[in-house]
Amino acid sequence: MPQPLIERYRRWLSLDEGDPVVTLNEGSTPLIHSPRLSERLEADVHLKLEGANPTGSFKDRGMTVAVSRAKGQGAEAVICASTGNTAASAAAYAARAGLRGAVIVPEGKIAVGKLAQALMHGARVIALQGNFDEALAIVRELADRNPVELVNSVNPWRIEGQKTAAYEVCDELGEPPDALAIPVGNAGNVTAYWAGFQDYEASPVLYGFQAAGAAPLVEGHPVEQPETVASAIRIGNPARWEEAMNAFTASRGRVAAVSDDQILDAYRWLASSEGVFCEPASAASVAGLLAHGMPVADGAEQPRSVVCVLTGHGLKDPDTALGKAPAVINCEAELDTVERAVFS
Ligand code: F0G
Repeated sequence: MPQPLIERYRRWLSLDEGDPVVTLNEGSTPLIHSPRLSERLEADVHLKLEGANPTGSFKDRGMTVAVSRAKGQGAEAVICASTGNTAASAAAYAARAGLRGAVIVPEGKIAVGKLAQALMHGARVIALQGNFDEALAIVRELADRNPVELVNSVNPWRIEGQKTAAYEVCDELGEPPDALAIPVGNAGNVTAYWAGFQDYEASPVLYGFQAAGAAPLVEGHPVEQPETVASAIRIGNPARWEEAMNAFTASRGRVAAVSDDQILDAYRWLASSEGVFCEPASAASVAGLLAHGMPVADGAEQPRSVVCVLTGHGLKDPDTALGKAPAVINCEAELDTVERAVFS
């Protein structure tokens, strides 16, 4: 049985010995070879399937550490702003720890699976008439005013836990990859990967991708009204802006934008060609590599081995999937008719 990531990588995480371990056996997610993407990119490409975490996204890595710490310090409640996955994860780990949970999400802008998760885990779900950036500003103030632990990625323990994905990539490949492609929203995850690689004295080129309608890091200024089909990364003013830009610079990588059409093409292609169903935001990493290739700094070598981080599971967002997939074929329960429907 896989070990909880806190046990697997405890030596790298500055947790207190006395802290409880609040875990759902997160981490140790599959790193699978992608033959078709390798062919298209003329490199050796692996996909890191973070949708295989207990609540279906990478957020569980940070949440096990942040909630363990919160519990160890006597917190009774956790709170976050979220485009959906953080909410689902915070709600699950709060339930596991016996803490109360509250999540603030942009009204009508989170995928239905994530909403179901947060509600089922017993969190109080508040749908804000505003976007993620406004929600985050509000929860930061709420956490200052009330005895509640903020578990957004501004919480350093979230980053600590998420570093473990970089450790796993290196451990699994036997060496660090030459490059890593990752979708960027609030910019916590790319910050965490870079910190993790640095712990391992590794320095892959980081390629970050934002949705074109929500690409503040690419444009160099906050975006007031971010818009994209990839609701998880519909963010106009990332909290970890500077850390992320430092990571791109230090790794000699870059951040670029991909259109919603490019995201949806990659999303469908991964599902139908590689058998991997991720959510639209996750497909931004593949869309970005396909659209932009892997540009390198002057004199640097072209990356040979590349890891693409697929941050969340496709089942999170059935509405987008069904909106893009071919129609179902309805049929009477009669042999010849079914035969025609199957084989015609
Ligand atoms: N992919 C998915 C599926 C996400 O849910 C997120 C962020 C990201 C990528 C981007 O990661 O923010 O660390 O740069 N989701 C957050 C949430 C904002 O509230 O669930 P990031």
